[in-house]
Amino acid sequence: MKNILVTGGAGFIGSNFIHYLFAQEPGVQVVNLDALTYAGSEENLRGLPAAAAYSFVRGDILDGNLVSALLRERKIDTIVHFAAESHVDRSIHGPAQFVQTNVMGTLFMLEAARQVWLNEKMLPLEAIRFHHISTDEVFGTLAPGDPAWTEEIAYAPNSPYAASKASSDHIARAYGHTYGLPVSITNCSNNYGPRQFPEKLIPLMILNALEGKPLPVYGDGQQIRDWLYVEDHCEAIYRILKEGRAGETYNVGGGNQPANLTIVRTLCDILDELQPGGESHHQLIKFVADRPGHDRRYAMDYSKLQRELGWAPRHDLRNGLLATVRWYLDNPGWVEKIHQHSDLQQWVQKNYTEREK
Ligand code: NAD
Ligand code: TYD
Repeated sequence: MKNILVTGGAGFIGSNFIHYLFAQEPGVQVVNLDALTYAGSEENLRGLPAAAAYSFVRGDILDGNLVSALLRERKIDTIVHFAAESHVDRSIHGPAQFVQTNVMGTLFMLEAARQVWLNEKMLPLEAIRFHHISTDEVFGTLAPGDPAWTEEIAYAPNSPYAASKASSDHIARAYGHTYGLPVSITNCSNNYGPRQFPEKLIPLMILNALEGKPLPVYGDGQQIRDWLYVEDHCEAIYRILKEGRAGETYNVGGGNQPANLTIVRTLCDILDELQPGGESHHQLIKFVADRPGHDRRYAMDYSKLQRELGWAPRHDLRNGLLATVRWYLDNPGWVEKIHQHSDLQQWVQKNYTEREK
């Protein structure tokens, strides 16, 4: 692993992964290919090493010629494919973009890898890896008491987002099976931590609470997610790139499965502690109309990754949430830039106005 192409590296998890990677291996060369959609920002990449080790290419994963040229010219041996449309609520408002980016984009990435790595034989097979980043949402939803998902469970995606990711997983697997492309896949649960775009539950709640705005909890707030601190996800990916087997998929999860309302209440407790004075942040909680087709419960069994590579999450939920709140408090400049350069205001209007009625 010398020359790594990261797609979507200006987004939440991709940027955290690039920071993590340079902290582990200052000697690697990283090319970050990102289209800078509303979700991507170069603000997320401040503080990276000198240009020699890191370069940013603004471009689309659907541009096959660009991807092939990058693979050849930068002698890429490892692709870590994060780029995607990632928000379930947006997929409900506009599914087509999700199929375009997540399904077609992944197909074009795989096709470029097949052309340059396999057809042109740029590098020996054992030197290359295509790592596809996916989600636990491909598995659907669990009833109370159901066991956590293992890698063997059948796919049953419920939202357009989950369906597009499921499709991309199948295509990635098929490229491994049919063409012998060394593909590995991770299905990970909900991430949280620094640099997450404030359309997702945790940063939305933190920033709304700091501004004294309502905290919109969908439905009864009893939906369950398996929360993982983003740095733990980055470590899992890194270990799989180093020691994981091609042709395998690995589940990654946090082992933290509180209801959404518990998460929001914990954030309010933390904010009451860190920002005392005035009314408690708990007063801002507001129940709003539920998400259509809302999955009730997710839980990941990550024992394969633990058994084979010795990985387990390092952050418990309380400490992870505390670190996350502190990060948002300590980075008001980031928050301001994200507000300026994204469509967040329009999105809030679109997603929440009707819901609150
Ligand atoms: P994000 O929305 O924060 O970032 C996505 C990035 O991809 C952005 O920088 C965006 O500009 C870029 N991008 C979008 N379309 C592109 C295109 N056509 N060409 C090039 N770049 C493009 O997403 P995230 O939360 O960091 O998620 C990253 C990956 O991890 C996704 O594949 C997602 O499905 C997966 N995942 C996310 C979570 C989570 O909780 N956030 C959990 C499990 C898996
Ligand atoms: P989200 O962060 O959008 O991630 P995902 O849909 O991929 O799990 O949402 C996490 C949970 O929080 C999900 O059950 C929906 C819920 N939620 C709210 O209750 N209110 C909100 O404003 C948002 C954005 C999410």
